[in-house]
Amino acid sequence: MQWYINAVFYELYLRAFADSNADGHGDFAGLRQRLDYLEWLGVDCIWLLPIYPSPLRDDGYDIGSFYGIHPDYGFLEDFRMTVDEIHRRGMRIITDLVVNHTSDQHPWFQEARRSKDSPMRDFYVWSDTDDRYADARIIFVDTETSNWTFDPVTSQYYWHRFFSHQPDLNYDNPKVRQAMLDVVRFWLDMGIDGFRVDAVPYLYEREGTSCENLPETHDFLKELRHFVDTHYPGRLLLAEANQWPQELLDYFGAGDEFHMCFHFPVMPRLYMALARQDRSSVVQILDDTPAIPEGCQWAVFLRNHDELTLEMVTPEDRDFMWQTYAADTHYRLNLGIRRRLAPLMDGDRRKIELMNSMLFTLPGAPVLYYGDEIGMGDDVTLPDRNGVRTPLQWIDGPGAGFSTAPALYSPVIGDAVYGYHQVNVQAQQADSTSLLHAVRRMIFARKNLPVLARGSLEWLHDLPLQTLCFWRRSAEGAVLALHNLSDQPLDIPLEPGIVFSDALYPDVGPVSGSVRLEAYGCRWLLPEAG
Ligand code: NOJ
Repeated sequence: MQWYINAVFYELYLRAFADSNADGHGDFAGLRQRLDYLEWLGVDCIWLLPIYPSPLRDDGYDIGSFYGIHPDYGFLEDFRMTVDEIHRRGMRIITDLVVNHTSDQHPWFQEARRSKDSPMRDFYVWSDTDDRYADARIIFVDTETSNWTFDPVTSQYYWHRFFSHQPDLNYDNPKVRQAMLDVVRFWLDMGIDGFRVDAVPYLYEREGTSCENLPETHDFLKELRHFVDTHYPGRLLLAEANQWPQELLDYFGAGDEFHMCFHFPVMPRLYMALARQDRSSVVQILDDTPAIPEGCQWAVFLRNHDELTLEMVTPEDRDFMWQTYAADTHYRLNLGIRRRLAPLMDGDRRKIELMNSMLFTLPGAPVLYYGDEIGMGDDVTLPDRNGVRTPLQWIDGPGAGFSTAPALYSPVIGDAVYGYHQVNVQAQQADSTSLLHAVRRMIFARKNLPVLARGSLEWLHDLPLQTLCFWRRSAEGAVLALHNLSDQPLDIPLEPGIVFSDALYPDVGPVSGSVRLEAYGCRWLLPEAG
């Protein structure tokens, strides 16, 4: 039942993946045609970004209806067929569920804003003034100046934690809670394997609080879990809660809330450790991360469809990250960096693999972001986060093999380093020394080593700070993961008397005594004999 604990996830932006009908937008039929690739790559579970009808002012996170598919993507029947086809291939699929807000174009809001007496009025949060809940921070600081927006129709303000066109639902209203459970039922009845639940900390508002992580919010989320467990056992709830470890822990409850939570704080520290050639920040955050209940798992990631968020670091570390990875201020967005993994690593294969290796060997289930497996680049000239959401580069040919349409929803990356002539799936599939093959190798090695999913974490503290080396151990086995964060080769002494084999490159002969890590090198070693 706990299939997610040792799963490899792939975050997939349908619009960017494959366009079957030459309208310039990816769609379900296109995805179905490309499932061979994901199966070959070793993906266990696809996470689909929002697919609902939407005015697309927040790329679908502004939902216009919870009960349909955006017309660019196909029909509901296409969705069902895609789910079936994914299952037939032994993979799973979860979709984004946006519980906190809707689009202002959603019929609920359209009805609610009509009049103060509207029967739907209480679906949203209204106020005569814009000074309530003043302790709640603004999240999209580059766009919004307040969490309240005045609605001239009824001369009241409505509450929103994200864009002003995304009014927050009012969870104090039992009808809202029921309506969301109905949505959950509808999609689980379609056969999906669960949800990535968007923006969960913000469901309730209470005066004098930050309006995040409130007890009432946890109560509802537990109700959601109970509903899923009762009617749909085995389905997954994965929380997007951008919080510190202690607050994050609450989203697992006592194993009765979310099955998984993204580990937001560890992500930027992987980048910090590499840039500083010093493991301390990663060790510290994982040492500060409490144990999670049985049946729960962290979701870990390097990049996603948003800016690389720096909310969970100190102001000093944020400045360091900005100066290191976004010296050109165009790359900064809100409290983050809008770049992809490969350009963040200066296109250096060694660093890209090193980051992936840490992702695959530290605790948690890895979530890959589409395109990063081939080292795609970004386009900072596109607005907001669109520069990291460009079409997947399949081939060195027209439309990068994504689409044959004359105009695409977004330009394909075409620059000299990361453009589709140089960087594409086809070329890398044909080249066993490519980044794609290296990532795939890690995926399969990881799946064969369940200790990496559940095992304990023991640091090798005696080694120089430029290394991130640790044991993962459990009854299922042991792995010694070695990482060299520095630009110089390092010799790592191994425990005397143990012979190790290489989990990634089994053809490399056994090692004992010590092992050389090249600059930015990594090894996954298995103890063979004592
Ligand atoms: C979190 C999503 O990841 C992000 O893309 C979106 O803009 C916000 N939620 C608001 O819906």
